[in-house]
Amino acid sequence: MASIAPSPLAPAQRYGLPIPVGWYHLCPADELAPGAVRTLTLFGGQWVLFRDQAGTAGVVEPYCRHLGAHLGVGGVVDGALLRCPFHKWGYDTAGFCRDIPYARKMPPVLERAPALRALPVREAAGGIWAWYHPAGAAPDWSLDALVEAVPADWRQRAGPVHDIHTIAQEIGENSVDGPHLVYVHGQPVVPNGQSQYAGPLRQTLINTQLPIEGEDGQMHSCDYRLNLQQWGPGLQILRQERYVSLLNIMTITPLDTALTRLRFTFFHPPYEDGFRQRMIDELIEEQVGQRGDYAGVEADLPIWDNKIYRAQPLLCDGDGPILQYRAWFRQFYPVA
Ligand code: FES
Ligand SMILES: [Fe+2]
Repeated sequence: MASIAPSPLAPAQRYGLPIPVGWYHLCPADELAPGAVRTLTLFGGQWVLFRDQAGTAGVVEPYCRHLGAHLGVGGVVDGALLRCPFHKWGYDTAGFCRDIPYARKMPPVLERAPALRALPVREAAGGIWAWYHPAGAAPDWSLDALVEAVPADWRQRAGPVHDIHTIAQEIGENSVDGPHLVYVHGQPVVPNGQSQYAGPLRQTLINTQLPIEGEDGQMHSCDYRLNLQQWGPGLQILRQERYVSLLNIMTITPLDTALTRLRFTFFHPPYEDGFRQRMIDELIEEQVGQRGDYAGVEADLPIWDNKIYRAQPLLCDGDGPILQYRAWFRQFYPVA
């Protein structure tokens, strides 16, 4: 008799894929005050995130170029520099060593290149982001679409954060997996969305009508528009219009090859009236928890946490464009 794979497998055995290249959300911007230093477990290793006194954030490798002390353990910000706890060498946010307090002459090599590996960093939509490429290649695309998506006067509301034993590719695949929206999330029918792929962008548009209770308490057929932009593995911008406008910025950050942080951050116009505020609350509830027949992301968690990755899945004609999505996603895996 054929043997069956033992279960459960350790998460790393369930996937076996490298960390994809992309822009990734590290933390909300207001969690890092000037002068703050934090050690983050990210991309399968440790990185030190700090904000200099002028307000610029940087992410550098943790071990000092001098004798290897950990900059996140006792390192302090001094003006524009992160100073090592051991002999106080000072690094800027680009990873250059700019000061050795006891050196009579700085080693010339320090002028030519960063002494520490540093990640490109950008702040957008209330978050601190870093570009990850295993060999340190420069960004292939920008976060401008994210900046443009969030009007300055919209209100921000923090949503849930989940650390899941899964990979970024699997979380993104959910949005092209139409049937699971019925069986996991309680939607009445498989939505008929069209996806387009262009470079790092995958976009799905849904334009339909839904029966929704209106301001008068009666059921109405209401316009419902959904626009999902996925920029690489780490960012999904979900814009919904249903009496109100709501943005859900979904960020997907690989902590290691089999543990991924999923975070929702919502933005909406500053509605003053009770009806629109209630509509916002309902749309958010549908995405994060349970509202009536609808189950939000919490229903996905036990599936992601325990499934394996089928590189060659057996699909049927009612499935969504899983293979098309995977062919698009392949571009984010670094070439070995
Ligand atoms: S080990 Fe960092 S300054 Fe010496
Ligand atoms: Fe889902």
